[in-house]
Amino acid sequence: MGEATAAAVPQEGAEASASLADQLRRQGAQTALRFLTCGSVDDGKSTLIGRLLYDAKLVFEDQLAALAADSKTQGTQGGDLDFALLVDGLAAEREQGITIDVAYRYFTTDRRKFVVADAPGHEQYTRNMATGASNSELAVILVDARKGVLTQTRRHSYIAALFGIRHFVLAVNKMDLVGYDQAVFADIERSYRSFAAQLGGLDIVAIPISALRGDNVARASEAMPWHQGPALLPHLEAVAVEGGEGLGAFRMPVQWVNRPNADFRGFSGTVVSGLVRPGDALVALPSGRASRVERIHTFDGELPAAGPGQAVTLTLADAIDVSRGDVLCAAERPAQLSDQLAVHLLWMSEDALIPGRQYRLKCAARTVNCVVTELKHAVNVNTLEAHAAKKLELNGVGVANISLNERLVFEPFGQSPALGGFILIDRRSNATVGVGVFDFSLRRADNVVWQALTVDKAHRASLKHQRPCVIWLTGLSGSGKSTIANLLESRLHDLHRHTYTLDGDNVRHGLTRDLGFTETDRVENVRRIGETAKLMVDAGLIVIVAFISPYRSERRMVRRLLEEGEFIEAFVHTPLAVCEARDPKGLYRKARAGEITNFTGIDAEYQSPENPELTLDTVALTAEQSVEKILDHLRSAGVLQP
Ligand code: ADX
Repeated sequence: MGEATAAAVPQEGAEASASLADQLRRQGAQTALRFLTCGSVDDGKSTLIGRLLYDAKLVFEDQLAALAADSKTQGTQGGDLDFALLVDGLAAEREQGITIDVAYRYFTTDRRKFVVADAPGHEQYTRNMATGASNSELAVILVDARKGVLTQTRRHSYIAALFGIRHFVLAVNKMDLVGYDQAVFADIERSYRSFAAQLGGLDIVAIPISALRGDNVARASEAMPWHQGPALLPHLEAVAVEGGEGLGAFRMPVQWVNRPNADFRGFSGTVVSGLVRPGDALVALPSGRASRVERIHTFDGELPAAGPGQAVTLTLADAIDVSRGDVLCAAERPAQLSDQLAVHLLWMSEDALIPGRQYRLKCAARTVNCVVTELKHAVNVNTLEAHAAKKLELNGVGVANISLNERLVFEPFGQSPALGGFILIDRRSNATVGVGVFDFSLRRADNVVWQALTVDKAHRASLKHQRPCVIWLTGLSGSGKSTIANLLESRLHDLHRHTYTLDGDNVRHGLTRDLGFTETDRVENVRRIGETAKLMVDAGLIVIVAFISPYRSERRMVRRLLEEGEFIEAFVHTPLAVCEARDPKGLYRKARAGEITNFTGIDAEYQSPENPELTLDTVALTAEQSVEKILDHLRSAGVLQP
């Protein structure tokens, strides 16, 4: 529904008669500035915005009366006007005294329109900062003159720059509380500039202000005659920013295939860059199919041309196959395609990002599966130093290589914010857990192609007269996985089946010798075993795997690696107390004594399977009976002859 409405919304300048020149002129005339305000808690953001609105005479009389009343009861300024109250609309925010979401506000002066994104200062809301930044052209970084440049100041600046902001205002606030001292301001400006220099080529204007008293906000302050530059509002009214994404080459992600009847087939979406006119040659990516634009439809009729921000429905000259999520591009300058990319990432979840774990990646209208194949380094946003990291914690920033399950249409973020930015989504909870930008496609992606071999899995399996599969035994240490695996393989061998057993303790002597027992290492352990098991299935074998494999998400990942029916999950269900009493290798005793850390069941988690094909209760069943149960399953699943 939302998508249909988007395509139907008439755009300004979209009258059928409007000439292209007219449209462009009109767009040019609205030089709205989208800016972001950020700072630590108590730096005075809300007060600053309230003061801007008040001084720009944008506060109505009735609001002013309400403000005066509120200031007496709830204000923090001893009954004086508390401008923060004007802005802090959110009830929770008033109660807790903090800003909790990105709030967008709109105001207009005689000289310019403004859209202000107010991002909260708390570290846990870094994601809102990133959202605000990607929608803004300029960032006002607020610093308390008494505190100077803080960790938050640096983190916000880094994120604003990462998400595409090139213009910064360093607003040194509360100058009244440091006696309007020029030296204090100069020190802070110097320290900020030396930090920001590492972010590369930013336009920075530093302004000493007092949001509370109105110094250098709407007009120059008499208290600081030493300040040569502009006051904040005149600067915001005058600053020249590049026209957003500019025109660039035509790109439109298809949000919706509009097919009201058999005669009409249109592709609806919002143009993210470039212009499109009837007759233009387009390609649909990733398929690469080509056609020409026939007509540009909107709710109000047809258009002679459409540009960035316009929601339109295109009909094409040929009946080519285009689906939701595809990107229509100018044929002579198509976007790039890749499934192996270098990216910058900001992690936003309490559960750390772990290389090897699968996430969903959403870019424009497309969602694909994604794995971080390599975390190259994490970035200390205070010092901008790179440091080695095995995972990314909440609010961590890192540089990584990612691998996707299919080729994605993308552009480097510097070229196109719309096709250059993405979010990562947790597969289970559907929560957004990370945001990132594409840096470039890894060239190795182009040079590694899947080699189709003449002899395939089916040939190999038929020679062995069997159906290959994986019997994946998961359970606590000491639960009996190895015993069952060993017995099962003997039985299958007697039945002349071709088998191989991958057992944790054995494989850890070779293939996974470099891995320990942290969450990160276990994820990688299971990934390697999964890939190995897949190759063995491809070789036509019945593969028995005996690993603790404590996490649901990785077991699920292996299931997806294999074909339907090939993955048989068998939960070796033995209570912890029983495993501990058995303690075949004496490891539980050591773990209890603190001699081994991260021991599964003691101080590391085990996530029981939710829907395993088999549950083997080793308290009720002997190992022989468990194996019998597995063989029964293999018979009924058609792996073994009944
Ligand atoms: S997994 O969690 O990554 O799947 P895996 O099955 O390979 O574990 O290895 C488990 C075996 O390693 C256990 O049976 C035990 O012998 C040994 N081991 C050593 N340290 C630990 C530990 N901290 N946690 C679990 N098992 C450990």
